[in-house]
Amino acid sequence: MRMRKKKWAEPELNACDFFIKNPCDYKGRWKDFFGSGNPIELEVGCGKGTFVAHKGLLNPQTDFIAVDLISNMLAVGRRNIVALFEENSRECKNIALTSYNVDKISEIVDKADNIARIYINFCNPWPRLKHNKRRLTHPTKLCQYKDILPPGGEIHFKTDSDLLFDDSLEYFKECGFEVTYLTRDLHQSDYTGNIVTEHEKMFSDEGIPIKFLIARKG
Ligand SMILES: C[S@@+](CC[C@H](N)C(=O)[O-])C[C@H]1O[C@@H](n2cnc3c(N)ncnc32)[C@H](O)[C@@H]1O
Repeated sequence: MRMRKKKWAEPELNACDFFIKNPCDYKGRWKDFFGSGNPIELEVGCGKGTFVAHKGLLNPQTDFIAVDLISNMLAVGRRNIVALFEENSRECKNIALTSYNVDKISEIVDKADNIARIYINFCNPWPRLKHNKRRLTHPTKLCQYKDILPPGGEIHFKTDSDLLFDDSLEYFKECGFEVTYLTRDLHQSDYTGNIVTEHEKMFSDEGIPIKFLIARKG
């Protein structure tokens, strides 16, 4: 996704006490950053932060790390998070935003962080075979997520793309995950507690059914 450079992005992120500039410093010790002892969940490719903002607000007993490659995107995310918490007269204490390439996610989190759940929402489908490796569900990434997750840890994956969903089902199987929930039309399913992301709203407004699965590390 292209985004015009925002002059205010860097200064606002630098002044934000939940934006982490050097996430490698926290590898294996994210609990020290949050200081709550609460379980930690991770969102990869968080975009403009709508999902993690609502997650954080609705789940004060869980801490969230949200990662995106593009810091301009995270700067918008920071504004969205602050606005939502302020609307609800709360201060954001349970979200950490950081800019990092998910290809190297194991440089910033590991098993010691005891990440209970990973969210992948509407990652780019990269339909051309030669670009498949860039998918956030590609086996090269699933292997890293698997190393990070404890036994029973989960990945929650949503997409608009049938091709990405079908390929990802193979990837999850190949990497030894068990799919415990699957729907090809999330908004018409029995699943409760869904939080609609920016891309999810866009695609469902176009009438595209949302594909969703939960994969569990055995
Ligand atoms: C299509 S957007 C989806 C944003 C949001 N999750 C949603 O559902 O609306 C995909 C996001 O993944 C991020 N992304 C893509 N590849 C990435 C990578 N290798 N590491 C980190 N973030 C990545 C992009 O910058 C973008 O913000």
